[in-house]
Amino acid sequence: MKKIGVLTSGGDAPGMNAAIRAVVRKAIYHNVEVYGIKYGYQGLMEGNIERMEIGSVGDIIHRGGTILYSARSEEFKTDAGQEKAIEQLNKFGIEGLIVIGGDGSFRGAQKLTEKGYPCIGVPGTIDNDIAGTDFTIGFDTALNTVIEAIDKVRDTATSHERTYIIEVMGRNAGDLALWAGLADGAESILIPEKKEDFSTVVNKLKRGRKRGKKHSIIVLAEGVGSGFDYGKRIEESTDLETRVTVLGHIQRGGSPSAADRVLASRLGAQAVDLLLEGKAGRMVGIEKNVLVDHDIAKVLHEKHTINDDMYKLSQELSI
Ligand code: F6P
Repeated sequence: MKKIGVLTSGGDAPGMNAAIRAVVRKAIYHNVEVYGIKYGYQGLMEGNIERMEIGSVGDIIHRGGTILYSARSEEFKTDAGQEKAIEQLNKFGIEGLIVIGGDGSFRGAQKLTEKGYPCIGVPGTIDNDIAGTDFTIGFDTALNTVIEAIDKVRDTATSHERTYIIEVMGRNAGDLALWAGLADGAESILIPEKKEDFSTVVNKLKRGRKRGKKHSIIVLAEGVGSGFDYGKRIEESTDLETRVTVLGHIQRGGSPSAADRVLASRLGAQAVDLLLEGKAGRMVGIEKNVLVDHDIAKVLHEKHTINDDMYKLSQELSI
């Protein structure tokens, strides 16, 4: 393989730039030309493709977002869209593609691979919702952003003796909420993977107040429902003054943490190695700090699960 392409797709995540850098530098290290595809699959179908050099990825390892930009494309989900994409890749003589993104992006990579075009997936999403890897690029940074925000909210919550619902992202997954809740000593953690009775949450709040607790923090994953609705329910069933903070897209930005930069560098480089070994339809990941790769179809079929021990611990520590 003498020419490969790289794109970022779906929701951006801090560390994507570090992954792009690793792909470009590792490919050039092996005397392979690299082409950057802008705006994900949409840009690919439109031929928005540029040759990348060593310098194209200088000074980006510490930056959030993605220098290749990102998009979600409906057209690419169609057969015609996928054929268009392969036509463009062939036109540029690009022989293999590295896709940095989440499960939606991997579905695209799988389709191209099924059509005979070799793709490798690199998991990049703040949601940490991909099977076959302990961590996705961007999760650690987003987690730290959430923690910083909750620490600030906690100050004002204490001053006013309020209960706060902090709604965090994660789509249908609870990892971000679970880790943030554990890291911040939240009173309750509400995630789609576990059912927590409303009465249990309320009783815990009441117990805390009785023993003189000055504030309460509940971390709610967006996959559970609206933080505002939950806050309203609490105010209606208690005399606790409640406020809701929806952290939103702040969680997707910012300079990547050291952990994300290192993870992105390792996974990006590993993806190049796999393509050069002639592999296709694989996703690179990390399990127990060892680099692994799995069949993308299998990854898409399986469900990422939360760590039950961590959930149990969060409950034991927030009595
Ligand atoms: O997948 C990343 C993510 O930030 C999710 O946590 C969230 O549900 C979604 O993307 C938001 O998507 P958009 O940026 O299109 O509003």
